[in-house]
Amino acid sequence: MTQDELKQAVARAAIDYVVKHEIIGVGTGSTANFFIDELAKIKADIKGAVASSEATAARLRGHGIAVFDLNDVPEIAVYIDGADEITHSGAMVKGGGAALTREKIVASVAKSFVCIADGSKLVDVMGKFPLPVEVLPMARAAVTRELAKLGGEPKLRLKPGTDEAFITDNGGMLIDVAGLAIADPVALEAKINQIVGVIAVGLFAARGANVCLLGTADGVKTLTF
Ligand code: 5RP
Repeated sequence: MTQDELKQAVARAAIDYVVKHEIIGVGTGSTANFFIDELAKIKADIKGAVASSEATAARLRGHGIAVFDLNDVPEIAVYIDGADEITHSGAMVKGGGAALTREKIVASVAKSFVCIADGSKLVDVMGKFPLPVEVLPMARAAVTRELAKLGGEPKLRLKPGTDEAFITDNGGMLIDVAGLAIADPVALEAKINQIVGVIAVGLFAARGANVCLLGTADGVKTLTF
């Protein structure tokens, strides 16, 4: 099976976790896109969705799914999203698709987080995938110096094919920190959150996944945490 077929398989499996007549939190990225396409098939069964990015909101709307502002939604039954890395205890690195801050906010309001990922994302120790950190533009250099003290190699994310900084949906910039071996994800998340100028770090450890649907050659495996 190709990686896309594995992503499609977990996206289909995630439909079983959609709570009927509720508002669903929806993540960002290629796996989340497959999920949105599956969600469209049962759109009559849900009230609508809260999106974790402008791209996700556009795709949801394109399928005729109502998109709610999080400020108008007191509670979300389930949040469904991909990950760049996930551990055997449900901690994740996210933000490869640049939506980490809104993903974290929407996930924080959800009762349950269902991670959908192809099998390559399951790791013993996170850090091989560079850890994304969203920063206020004026704090870019100061935060980069602080992140370098953690032992990794921080690098400003650029707009593909340019030397210009990538700008997120929130007007922030992204610093990707390569070369970390994240032994204690909860502690590192708290430490990076303390750096002044950081908007959010793509470590989802204090609030990790409750369930991971993992796409493998032997079918979709369900991990619960
Ligand atoms: C976006 C994310 C994505 O969930 C993560 O990058 C995985 O993406 P994909 O499903 O395309 O592999 O965190 O900010």
